[in-house]
Amino acid sequence: MGKTYLKVATVYFTIGVLAGLTMGIIHDFRFTSVHAHINLLGWVTMALFGIIYHLYPNAAKSKLAKTQFWLHNIGVPVMLGGIVLQVLGVSAALPPTIIGSIAVVVGVILFMVNVFKYVGKDSTVNSDKNVSI
Ligand code: HEM
Ligand code: HEM
Repeated sequence: MGKTYLKVATVYFTIGVLAGLTMGIIHDFRFTSVHAHINLLGWVTMALFGIIYHLYPNAAKSKLAKTQFWLHNIGVPVMLGGIVLQVLGVSAALPPTIIGSIAVVVGVILFMVNVFKYVGKDSTVNSDKNVSI
């Protein structure tokens, strides 16, 4: 789970910086919000999920983690695709944007529950001292 999140995060990072670079070069800032959320919900948030799940393998193995992974990875592209369409004038894209956003928020709530339930239940061994984190 940790590794998958880190790999997906780097794909969002690549798309996010390419979008930023393109916006800057062509001086079209209509998609600033999309660029910001590709980088923040895609790269930063997913890289954090990846690092947290690497540190806490019990949390990574739970059903909550798997459900949240799919809510985030379906919700983010639906939300961002919806924003792109709305910026292009497709007002019918508002409902899917809201549904995608709600999926992300529900996923974040599951993530919080998962962290409260499982973080601290792992015994990760530090190389020189036996330290539980
Ligand atoms: C080479 C990489 C990047 C380029 C070329 C780039 C370019 C841009 C451009 C042109 C804007 C619009 C500025 C404006 O509207 O005045 C912008 C906004 C923004 N970028 Fe990036 N960006 C890059 C990487 C990132 C990364 C890695 C993040 C987050 C981790 C990020 C977060 C944001 C945010 C939050 C905004 C909106 C700022 C605001 O609302 O004022 N960008 N970026
Ligand atoms: C489901 C989750 C989220 C939703 C629905 C959401 C929604 C929004 C909305 C409606 C705006 C205003 C956009 C505009 O003025 O054009 C915004 C701006 C912003 N959000 Fe989010 N957001 C979410 C998650 C996040 C997260 C996790 C971060 C940071 C880690 C973040 C950082 C920002 C920033 C920096 C801005 C200002 C940049 C901009 O001009 O777009 N958001 N967000």
